[in-house]
Amino acid sequence: ARLVVLVSGSGTNLQALLDAIAADPEGYGARIVAVGADRDGIAGLERAERAGIPTFVCRVKDHPTRDAWDRALTEATAAHEPDLVVSAGFMKIVGKEFLARFGGRVINTHPALLPSFPGAHGARDALAYGVKVTGCTVHFVDDGVDTGPIIAQGVVGVRDEDDESALHERIKEVERELLVEVVGRLARNGYRIEGRKVKFL
Ligand code: GRF
Repeated sequence: ARLVVLVSGSGTNLQALLDAIAADPEGYGARIVAVGADRDGIAGLERAERAGIPTFVCRVKDHPTRDAWDRALTEATAAHEPDLVVSAGFMKIVGKEFLARFGGRVINTHPALLPSFPGAHGARDALAYGVKVTGCTVHFVDDGVDTGPIIAQGVVGVRDEDDESALHERIKEVERELLVEVVGRLARNGYRIEGRKVKFL
């Protein structure tokens, strides 16, 4: 399967995918054909370049409207003909056009146990609420914020001494493994989305 990965930051989830593919290019069942970002100068793009993978940047401020940005992102992504699009720390909500083109083929990873703590600060919000367990969720993207069908989740205990960054780092360790496992399985097995249920074939 052909993957386009979208990033906005450090790209450690992207790196985990790159490493899994490098370790077993045939067996993994998917390869990254391009990495896209909503900003430049981020480590995520450097990781792609180091791996020799084409990149593209699509910034909201370079477009007159949010819809125009969404169309540009859709075109830039479509140029690489992905089977799956992986939003791995991509901090933008994709729009109508993007979902019309790639709906049912876009997955996102989120650092909390959805439906709890959606949005941009999953780890911080869980800590502030005082939950004792949190984790990460890999899910399909729909037109809501972190609301699409859940594919898999991983659990992480909250420690008394945690601050946001310590907790988020522990979540990310589990998150990277989960993402690698889920993307490989989706690519190798194929899948069907039935309502809110994701079935591997
Ligand atoms: C991940 O925890 C992702 O879920 C989130 O931001 C983090 C991205 O990390 N929303 P990285 O860029 O893959 O290192």
